[in-house]
Formats: sequence, C-alpha cells, structure tokens
Amino acid sequence: MPDDPKLDAMREHYDRGRELGRLAESFGRLEFERTKEIILRRLPPPPAVVADIGGGPGRYALWLAQLGYQVEHRDLIPLHVEQLRQAADGNPRIATATGDVRQLDLVSESADAVLLLGPLYHLDRRRDRLQALAETRRVVRPGGPVFCAAISRWAPRMDSILRSRLYETIPGVEAELAGIERTGRLPPFGPGGFSGYTHRPGQLRAELAAGGFQVIDLVSVEGPAYLLDDLTERLADAEAGRVVLETARALERIPELLGIGSHLLATACK
Ligand SMILES: C[S@@+](CC[C@H](N)C(=O)[O-])C[C@H]1O[C@@H](n2cnc3c(N)ncnc32)[C@H](O)[C@@H]1O
Repeated sequence: MPDDPKLDAMREHYDRGRELGRLAESFGRLEFERTKEIILRRLPPPPAVVADIGGGPGRYALWLAQLGYQVEHRDLIPLHVEQLRQAADGNPRIATATGDVRQLDLVSESADAVLLLGPLYHLDRRRDRLQALAETRRVVRPGGPVFCAAISRWAPRMDSILRSRLYETIPGVEAELAGIERTGRLPPFGPGGFSGYTHRPGQLRAELAAGGFQVIDLVSVEGPAYLLDDLTERLADAEAGRVVLETARALERIPELLGIGSHLLATACK
C-alpha cells in the first residue's frame, strides 16, 4: 500500500501509548458508553462476526468478545495490536493483526458488522477515505451494519481551545482554527499531538453515499456534555450521570446540533 507521509504524525502520536487508557478517562468514558449503546441498537445478536477496523488497543473488541461475538480486529499501529493481544490473553473469540483499512486481509462478505471507529478521522485525503469505505463494503455481508465514527469539524475549536484552553500554552494555536475549519485537516498541536481529519455532518453522509452505503442513522455521540469541567464527578454519580447520558440521547439527532459533540457516528449498510 503506498504510504501517506501525513500518517507519520499519527504514528508518532499513537506510539506514545496513550490510547490504551483513553476510553477509561472521563471524556473517553462518555464516548465509550454512548458509542456502545448506539452500536447495540443495530448490531445483530451473537454469535456473529464483527470486524473492528482501526480498533486501537481493543477496548471495543474485548467488550464484543465478552458479549459472545467473534471479533476480527485490525489496526495500523503494531503497539495497539500487541496491547490487545496481551489483554485478550488467548481469548479464542478475538483475532488481531496489523492491517490498513485501505487494503484488508479479510474475506469478502465475511463480517456480519463492521466497526470503523477511527480510520475515517485519520485519512485526510478523500480518495483514501473512499478506498477505506470500498474495503469496508467488500468485507461486510449485505444488510450488515457498518458503524463509522468521525470527528466533528468544530471539535478542535470547542475541545482544544474552549475547553482545554490550549491558547494559554501554545502561542498562535487559535490562528490555526480558520484553516482547520476550512480544510478539515487537523495538524498536531505540538510534538506527538493528535492529528487527523474532521468532518461536517453532511459531508460524512455524502462520503458514505459515494462509498455505496445507505445511511440508516447519523448522531452526535457526546452532544455538549464533553464540555463540562466536572464531567468526571457527574459520571461517577448515578443521578448526574443519568442526566448527562439522557441529554446526549435527547440531542443526538437534531440536525442543527449534530456537530456540537466531538464525535459523529453514522450507521450504514450496503
Ligand atoms: C482514536 S483511535 C480509536 C481506537 C478505537 N477504535 C476506539 O474507538 O477507541 C484511532 C485508531 O485508528 C487507527 N487507524 C488510523 N488509520 C488507520 C488505517 N488506515 N488502517 C487501520 N487503522 C487505522 C489508529 O491506529 C488508531 O488505533
């Protein structure tokens, strides 16, 4: 597969190993809880084969295996594959290997469902995202759901600037927002920082259609709750946590608010 030099910044970020605990931290917990519930709305019952492509260190793969699914996990980063191998500890329901979503080693129509929770927001050329969707389309069986995550076009402004106040530590970072919001391309803010590609909701819909998919649903994963400074405490409290999740659910499909959360999640089938 011809490589993309921009993927080097992504590798530098993930080689630091920080992805392993991300979904256990407060903002990641909200993302994980909501993503699981959205996936479960359409996932066929176990036993079924789920391909988790760009599955990172395997938090979703482990969850799916526990539910009784057979998981085919692939990720571009060898460290992530190794981390899942260790965590899976020989679990026969999990198969993992390094792999690129643009050229998968999986048999055509061998998956009952596909998770694409990452690759689309790391491929900043449209032709690469369409190649990723073409491979996904090849691998999933007809009617099988495909869950595609994207980062909202406005997440860098809301998350990195408004919430995390990066302007206090990285001079000039605010000036980069206009270019990011125009092109969608998110450069790393500092060495080893996260880099990727951000989508407008309508653009994600259009790319899925161009890739031969019918979009069944498109929602905001977190809604505005990821901006809360006290999210960790709220999620630890039963009543406050319930309100956070209920708010995300109530606002998830309102067209005017789709881009307000940091992640978009589309459910589609071919
Ligand atoms: C933010 S992580 C998400 C991991 C996991 N799916 C989750 O939602 O927690 C994005 C993942 O996509 C993987 N990735 C990016 N581009 C990829 C590609 N072309 N093929 C396969 N995996 C890719 C990265 O290696 C990384 O593990």
